[in-house]
Amino acid sequence: MAPTKKVFIKTYGCQMNVYDSERMAEALAGGGYAPTDAPDNADLIILNTCHIREKAAEKVYSELGRLRSIKEERARADQETVIAVAGCVAQAEGDEIVRRAPVVDLVVGPQSYHQLNTLIARNRTTARPVVETEFPEDDKFRHLPARAPAPARTHTASAFLTVQEGCDKFCTFCVVPYTRGAEYSRSVAAIEEEARRLVAAGVREITLLGQNVNAYHGENSKGGTASLADLLRHLAAIEGLERLRYTTSHPRDMSEDLIAAHRDLATLMPYLHLPFQAGADRVLAAMNRKHTGAEYLDIVARIRAARADIALSTDIIVGFPGETDEEFEATLDIVRKVRFAQAYSFKYSPRPGTPAATMERQVPEPVKIARLARLQALLEEQQSSFNAGCVGRVLPVLFERQGRREGQLIGRSPYLQSVHADAAPGLMGRIIPVEIAKAGPNSLSGVIRAA
Ligand code: 5AD
Ligand code: SF4
Repeated sequence: MAPTKKVFIKTYGCQMNVYDSERMAEALAGGGYAPTDAPDNADLIILNTCHIREKAAEKVYSELGRLRSIKEERARADQETVIAVAGCVAQAEGDEIVRRAPVVDLVVGPQSYHQLNTLIARNRTTARPVVETEFPEDDKFRHLPARAPAPARTHTASAFLTVQEGCDKFCTFCVVPYTRGAEYSRSVAAIEEEARRLVAAGVREITLLGQNVNAYHGENSKGGTASLADLLRHLAAIEGLERLRYTTSHPRDMSEDLIAAHRDLATLMPYLHLPFQAGADRVLAAMNRKHTGAEYLDIVARIRAARADIALSTDIIVGFPGETDEEFEATLDIVRKVRFAQAYSFKYSPRPGTPAATMERQVPEPVKIARLARLQALLEEQQSSFNAGCVGRVLPVLFERQGRREGQLIGRSPYLQSVHADAAPGLMGRIIPVEIAKAGPNSLSGVIRAA
């Protein structure tokens, strides 16, 4: 259908939402919508929301307040605006959203994006808000259109591909099992088809996404089950696909065959995001993580034995209910032992409906703030020192976007660092050796070396 209307999508949160927003845009192209960057020009505005931490829902309500003025302004010019809330806040809040924000026309959970055009049509014909937050039995991936053959984007070198969704782990702090539902893995064939399409469109690096990606267990071509390691080995054979990554993992699913894949597959980048959340075993048990601090360190040692230069990244929570000063020290201790190249750290934030939200001995905010500051100082020091250790090395860099300066491109090292270099525009989308000359806390810069 030729586009006659415009859609503006604002994405919050994780890479899964980035991927979902792209797929929503593609599904909507079938309904006659072309993307726009300007909400005041949009016939359809979608907030793709995140519910993982902080006052996510409150932020959505205040954004909806701003959108109400846009909708009213456009109505004065006789233009209709459909306002939709998608993502995890939509899933968690459901009807409550239209009750609190009557400006909203459509609330749609992550499992129903393939029905977007139908849901919008239903809202238009009934003139009533539509709320769709069921977990339907059918496979949303099957209904979403295949990615456009040559996406008109400025950086096509690297792409996300969702292979697994949902989570059965039920960590006591986390809303994901409630907002994204039970674990579901796509088939190897469906993933391979999408990967081949991406590569044909110029993609060189694919990051496999899943809330618990290393618990992946999809159907293989023989009717059996493929592990993430099987899937990686399979995809590594695709010609033209030069880099593979996956995120995000759980220590319990870091199986021997996955560790071996890090040893065997040159295309699997030496970078692993492996959250450990907390160091003290009592806290880990209360979080329902089902691993100890020592077990985490053991996994790290085995991965490093398989791939010596692997860069590790992690997620850490401070101030989980009941966490004492001593228990927090155990978190710092793990950080000191592992030495992370990169990390995300958060103050514990009670999520309604999760077991930890009603646990006793919630940690006071000032204590959380102080712990987070100490932790982040240590993590920043480790990240800077990891980056500094790259100076003088020649790293293969996949150039994926224009730098701020004319004649400069920005790409990624194998360790996921941003690397800036003076480079001809024709090197975009290619992997080029760069000698690292300078390192900052968040990026590197260097000079192109002849291959
Ligand atoms: N409070 C703080 N951090 C959280 N995370 C998930 N839920 C919460 C919460 N309630 C963090 C975890 C997870 C990352 C995606 O977000 O560290 O790994
Ligand atoms: Fe949330 Fe834990 Fe599942 Fe990760 S493993 S999505 S933290 S419940």
